[in-house]
Amino acid sequence: MSTTSMRTHMCGELRFSEVDKTVSVCGWVASRREHGSQLSFVDVRDHTGVIQCVVDNEVDVRSEYVVRITGVVRARLEGTTNINLPTGEVELGECVVEVLRTAEPPPFPIDSRADKVDENTRLQHRYLDIRRERMQRNLRVRAKVNSAIRGAMEAQEFVEVETPMLVPSTPEGAREFLVPSRKDPGSFYALPQSPQLFKQLLMVAGVDRYYQIARCLRDEDLRADRQYEFMQLDAEMSFASQDDVLEAISKAVEAAAFAVTGETPPPIERMTWRDAMETYGVDKPDLRFGMTLVDLTDVFSATEFKAFSGAASIKGINASGKAEEMGRNKLDGLTAKAKQMGAKGLVWLKVAADGTLDSPVAKFLSADEQAELVQRFAAVAGDLILIVADEWDITCEVLGTLRNDLGRPPVWQGPYRYVWVTEFPLFVGVDKETGKPKPGHHPFCRPHPEDLDKFETDPMSVRALAYDLVLNGWELGSGSIRIHESDLQRRVFNALGISDEEADKKFGFFLRPFEYGAPPHGGFAFGIDRLVAIIAGEENIREVIAFPKTQSGTDLMTGAPTPPNAKQLAELGIRVLPPKA
Ligand code: AMO
Ligand code: AMP
Repeated sequence: MSTTSMRTHMCGELRFSEVDKTVSVCGWVASRREHGSQLSFVDVRDHTGVIQCVVDNEVDVRSEYVVRITGVVRARLEGTTNINLPTGEVELGECVVEVLRTAEPPPFPIDSRADKVDENTRLQHRYLDIRRERMQRNLRVRAKVNSAIRGAMEAQEFVEVETPMLVPSTPEGAREFLVPSRKDPGSFYALPQSPQLFKQLLMVAGVDRYYQIARCLRDEDLRADRQYEFMQLDAEMSFASQDDVLEAISKAVEAAAFAVTGETPPPIERMTWRDAMETYGVDKPDLRFGMTLVDLTDVFSATEFKAFSGAASIKGINASGKAEEMGRNKLDGLTAKAKQMGAKGLVWLKVAADGTLDSPVAKFLSADEQAELVQRFAAVAGDLILIVADEWDITCEVLGTLRNDLGRPPVWQGPYRYVWVTEFPLFVGVDKETGKPKPGHHPFCRPHPEDLDKFETDPMSVRALAYDLVLNGWELGSGSIRIHESDLQRRVFNALGISDEEADKKFGFFLRPFEYGAPPHGGFAFGIDRLVAIIAGEENIREVIAFPKTQSGTDLMTGAPTPPNAKQLAELGIRVLPPKA
């Protein structure tokens, strides 16, 4: 299929069945080994693999030269076959070599040895890095995922609609990148952090089922799972319930996983946000390992131990078998981390060989309390029990973080454990400036119908019809059923401390169209980079993006960002202040 006028085969395709055929391959010289004074073994590489060619020593070919080689496929001599190579039974003999382009020696070896090279060097020469098998595989995994997602969405009659990249700046969500307008100096577009507002307007517009493999841009601190630019499968559907949305998105995820791994993952399980917090301490539960949070509030309801008495929530985890490896320094480290996260402290207890509890605070705990602890955790010698007593959310968050720190395997490690986390809270925390609650996701999420009456009295307990998809402890995506009625929207804005006039000013262009007939609707978006990284066995999404930015947001290959020239600035009516000293 990859035949062109220059080649008959791909390097990695040649097998014993091709023996005696005259073939042409094209590619890069991976290595050259002298074989006596007469001949060399030259390995030629393309994205499918490597073939060994026996070449006359007169021919000058060096690493990374681009060559076309025509030769005859022949069996390698007995004892010289290479079982590690798919083409290892054969080689090309009687080779005619054409050098199509010479090459300078590359700054790093174009093979797995480059994994050990400083990543900045790889990024600076990304075109060489991508020439490697690992990167070729990752990009092709990504292409398969995109294609499978498209297929699954189209099979469900979602229509791909493109939305603009130059949009107005809106106050909800992550910080935006701004783009100055030349025609209207002093005014700026924003780059979209997601197509959220447009996809909802497409529902008002009667599109019914929208999807897009959408580029999103957010000016936020970069991490293993975050880039400025990233891709979402973005979707929205009308006249749909939460179940309808989850089912549609599940099909796309399953198709993507199947396309790459050949296996359909089991039906994706569901868990409420509250259960996730209670049991895993985080809203992105990693279901691949145990060490779950155990509630101990009742165990210590009448305790004499000051640190625990009267606490709203007491929970613990059992880091099985970790007592020995966790010396005093490491335990102090865990305590410091717990305090940094807002806990008043951390109690640790080691289960000794005789089954007693070894801990500086053991003497404050009654025999019954100690026995109950051992029983609740099914603790055995060598186990390490960690306990936090605090407000419920702090207890959960601290133990959830310690659980991940102590037990979490690399994100890509199988099995793949997907889970839908549902019933997220509508509001989280309090805005320091306004004293009002902040939206959990965005202000257009629909409150849970059972919680509508608690809206004004106990807003923090109101659940939303909002849900996340989590894979191996990474948030893959988020979505919600939306508000389509203006009176309900006003109630949410009021709870957030946004007046009608302010809402009109900030979101008018988005909300006014709803007055012309907005259907009930809901949707979802998941991060394609994250899904691909996990399926491709990578720990950082940079490895599955052809041209990513570094942690500090620069593109080492092109040098972006760069200062504009004076003429560009003048046209835009912009003056740049000197950097702060
Ligand atoms: P949200 O902001 O949760 O929801 O984003 C959805 C998913 O996009 C991915 N993602 C990222 N991936 C890489 N780098 C980033 N900087 C980054 N930021 C987000 C994550 C995340 O789960 N419009 C709503 C969805 C909706 O309500 O329909 C939205 O964008 O995988
Ligand atoms: P203190 O009584 O503050 O000296 O604490 C005694 C031990 O209990 C120390 O190891 C603290 O880290 C721990 N501790 C104190 N408060 C809490 C709490 N709220 N939850 C868990 N451990 C705590």
